[in-house]
Amino acid sequence: STATKIAQKKFDNCIMNASGVWCYDEKELSALDKSEAASFVTKSGTLESRKGNPKPRYFETDLGSINSMGLPNQGLEYYLNFVNKVQEQNPNKNYFVSCTGFNVQEDVLLLEEVKKSGFKGIVELNLSCPNVPGKPQTGYDFETVDMILQTVFENYEGLLGVKLPPYFDIVHFDQMAKILNKYPLTYINSVNSIGNGLYIDEEQEKVVIKPKNGFGGIGGDYIKPTALANVHAFYQRLDSRIQIIGTGGIKTGRDVFEHILCGASMVQVGTALMKEGPSIFRRLTRELEAIMRSKGYEKLSDFKGKLKYM
Ligand code: DHB
Repeated sequence: STATKIAQKKFDNCIMNASGVWCYDEKELSALDKSEAASFVTKSGTLESRKGNPKPRYFETDLGSINSMGLPNQGLEYYLNFVNKVQEQNPNKNYFVSCTGFNVQEDVLLLEEVKKSGFKGIVELNLSCPNVPGKPQTGYDFETVDMILQTVFENYEGLLGVKLPPYFDIVHFDQMAKILNKYPLTYINSVNSIGNGLYIDEEQEKVVIKPKNGFGGIGGDYIKPTALANVHAFYQRLDSRIQIIGTGGIKTGRDVFEHILCGASMVQVGTALMKEGPSIFRRLTRELEAIMRSKGYEKLSDFKGKLKYM
């Protein structure tokens, strides 16, 4: 079985979408709900709906993707209304709503909106959008992350996880884990895209997306080693009550297996879901099951976090 739990909530399977992919509106979210995905997470909702950055703003490469979407979304209220409706129809399934404010006051307002809506699922607070011109990625400002979590947990009692950007320095893993361990977080999700890469069309001598003169968040094959390092670094450092969702470079059952081996309790698929569509969840589940069968593993806990060292 590939079943898992996040915060004692059960999921039939451990694979779902990454926020931003196939989750913009009811149509896309319904397709995920009908697929073999364990759950879905919405696009990060903001206080007001947003059109996002000018197009083209997403580009697929042989090894992954580059995007500078700029948080196009329907507004948090839309996602709460929809997920609460879906939840009523599927009382045994659990869902995630992502949201992101432009400052801590907005985060508090967003969570008040979540509470007022009666949402009983899990909130993913996005601390890592790299694509809004003029706005640094919150996750790279450690003092601000600490202050946001302090304020958010004074104001919100529901289940809450955070989406983090990738870190690249051992001291940063130490410092961020020390901050995260102070709070009653349900989970962390590592990683968001590697921010502000640049992909070039050599023949045209030109960038491939319009916003920010071509700079954008990198996903796909490029980022799997960074994602695995972040999942495992936090698995080593976080209190066991804080679970880990692994995101980054997942396109085969083997990639899912590796994330779980590094300590993930659940995984999310972004770039490969964009490429393949929601039928990917059936393939990934089958491929993971085949690997588990060949290794004699019956459940995720048989190998979760059990990465061996030399
Ligand atoms: C966007 C990209 C992200 O990586 C993110 O975390 C949130 C939003 C975007 O550009 O829309």
